[in-house]
Amino acid sequence: MKTHYYTATSLDGYLADQDQSLDWLFQFGEIEGVQDNYRQFIDQVGAVAMGSTTYEWLLEHETLLEDPEKWPYDIPAWIFSTRDLPVVDGADIRFVQGDVAPVHAEMVDAVDGENIWLVGGGDLVGQFHDHGLLDEIILSVAPVTLGSGAPLLPRRITSPSLKLVDVQKHGDVFVQLTYEIQ
Ligand SMILES: NC(=O)c1ccc[n+]([C@@H]2O[C@H](COP(=O)([O-])OP(=O)(O)OC[C@H]3O[C@@H](n4cnc5c(N)ncnc54)[C@H](OP(=O)(O)O)[C@@H]3O)[C@@H](O)[C@H]2O)c1
Repeated sequence: MKTHYYTATSLDGYLADQDQSLDWLFQFGEIEGVQDNYRQFIDQVGAVAMGSTTYEWLLEHETLLEDPEKWPYDIPAWIFSTRDLPVVDGADIRFVQGDVAPVHAEMVDAVDGENIWLVGGGDLVGQFHDHGLLDEIILSVAPVTLGSGAPLLPRRITSPSLKLVDVQKHGDVFVQLTYEIQ
């Protein structure tokens, strides 16, 4: 059982641009190998966690309040927020706030040996890392720079550094980098 941060990022380390847009990512459409890679990853995931900006992006982008069947997960999702947010009909969503450590313990109990996926954003993942609860970072690096936006992982991790354990090329677009936390 591992806790992963699996995400796409711009080359200069942003998850979304200043307007929370992912148009820079979606411009590439379907790239060979990416869907298979995602399927292999998600098949071993038992729970996801995300911050409220990411959740609200999903609500809006997928019009989930009108079309709740488009909720992308059939596993429980923990959403971090200090606000009251709408729930997607029929989705297994648990709203939480504050210290991530007890929430991680709850997630570990729920996943029954499967992995945990930290969807983002970067600071929330940083909070898990601060508690030693992040095992692996899997990045699909897109060949674009954004200059500003939502940061990938606003933490200083230098020594020990991350350990590079895998590199994959997807088309002439993405490089997927897998790093272990040492
Ligand atoms: N490139 C990709 O594949 C990818 C992946 C993930 C996300 N994204 C995008 O990247 C952006 C990330 O946004 P973001 O940086 O703002 O991060 P976020 O983690 O999605 O949202 C941050 C918000 O979550 C809440 N939060 C975080 N930690 C909390 C805690 N411990 N307790 C309670 N609430 C907590 C706070 O909001 P409140 O308390 O005000 O609710 C905080 O402002 C989004 O636009 C998302 O769509 C892209």
